[in-house]
Amino acid sequence: MSDLRTFIETVRAKRRADVVEVEREVQPKYETAAIVTKLEARGRSPMLLFRNVAGAEPTLVTNVCGSMGRLALALGCSVGEVAKTYAERAETPMAPVSVAAGPCQEVVKQAEAVDLSILPSMIYHLDDADEPYLTAAIVLARDPETGKTNLSYHRMMIAGKNRTGILMEKGKHLDGIFKKYVARGEDMPVAVILGVHPLVALGTLYSGTADDEEYDVIGGLMQEPLEVVPCVTHPDLSVPAGAELVLEGTVSHAERMREGPFGEFTGYGTGVTQTPVFEVKAMTHRRDFLFQDIVSGRMEHMVLSLPAIEHRNRKLARSLAKGFVELALPAPLTTVVAIDKTDDEEPLRLIEAMLRADIYAKHVIVVDGDVDPSDLRQVLSAVALQTQADRKVHIFADEQGTPLDPSCRSEDGRSAKMGIDATRALAPTRSVTPNRLPQELLDSIDVKEFKAKRSQE
Ligand SMILES: Cc1cc2nc3c(=O)[nH]c(=O)nc-3n(C[C@H](O)[C@H](O)[C@H](O)COP(=O)(O)O)c2cc1C
Repeated sequence: MSDLRTFIETVRAKRRADVVEVEREVQPKYETAAIVTKLEARGRSPMLLFRNVAGAEPTLVTNVCGSMGRLALALGCSVGEVAKTYAERAETPMAPVSVAAGPCQEVVKQAEAVDLSILPSMIYHLDDADEPYLTAAIVLARDPETGKTNLSYHRMMIAGKNRTGILMEKGKHLDGIFKKYVARGEDMPVAVILGVHPLVALGTLYSGTADDEEYDVIGGLMQEPLEVVPCVTHPDLSVPAGAELVLEGTVSHAERMREGPFGEFTGYGTGVTQTPVFEVKAMTHRRDFLFQDIVSGRMEHMVLSLPAIEHRNRKLARSLAKGFVELALPAPLTTVVAIDKTDDEEPLRLIEAMLRADIYAKHVIVVDGDVDPSDLRQVLSAVALQTQADRKVHIFADEQGTPLDPSCRSEDGRSAKMGIDATRALAPTRSVTPNRLPQELLDSIDVKEFKAKRSQE
């Protein structure tokens, strides 16, 4: 069975320098985040095991997926093959297998015995709320109408021994499922999973249709079915048997609480908000469980999200543009797509579809197929030289974006979006020719002939 522990051992064996053990006492408030931040500024992004977190028993494991090299290791491929491997395996799903017992339930605490204060009280940034956060919480819920399950990450602010807030962004599948429970006047049963193998994380972040089962995607990524065990309090939800910690409970359909501020992946906190409330009814864990977190806004958050978001966008762009070449996500909320277009309207069609497909797609730039979308100098040159802003910059004034965008003016995430068609016109109105030279002449020139003369002495 592959789990967080087997992965840590694999990293120790194969990428020794990627694991750092810290025995001295560290503070959960700011200090571990500061260590990750400072190392990153020096070009280092190791996995860190903090054995002695002040005020808490469990070892804190952070930055597990903080480098593409470690994601590649988890997938068993090279860094250059991550995108292709993710795409191939995510599209060959494999259903999980249910087992009777698993290490994640070695210790079971229910009702009054539940106490979130035994967890490290993680606080990440100066302007964050005073309450600690769970940042690596994978939430499992079942759609009450279709019976399909969904896995996704959600930040959770701890607000008492058995209560947390849960941030569900509008437009995401969990938000859609939750709304169905609200409409029925019922609380939403959930299991919150912490401490997992990176492929569980990568499958969780798969973003397909509401009908796609993320557990099956995880099986595809692992190339073996994931072992799951039924929850203690709601057996129709099953959790990875090898998880470190599971919180079972319900999200209230009616209650809301103050949540935030919290410094997000964008590098900004966007103030206090109101979120639904998660009541924890059972806490199950391994006897000596590891507590996993993700330092928000740092490398791990970005690296982890990339394969799934790129895959979704590639799939969409490929289905819309016959001449799709490649795409890149060079900055938050920004997608650059290179295509060999078939008509001059195609970039706009692509822009509209991509902006509407995801709340995190805020700016889409379409360039010609000979432009490398990951080279910002080439992209900005295309924007400067192929775009007349009055015709090829398209503004969509009121779309579903994310309130985590610091420029977003409303709390519900309604946002302006923009598409830039930076492709050359197929039939230019003026005579426009790229500078060219005869290829044979270029081929015949031997650069060795043109050596500079050595200085005299
Ligand atoms: C570290 C991390 C934290 C995240 N936190 C949240 C969050 O608090 N709320 C949210 O709606 N999405 C959050 N996400 C994004 C969702 O996990 C992601 O959009 C989701 O898996 C998309 O798939 P789905 O809509 O198919 O469920 C987070 C992602 C990562 C990597």
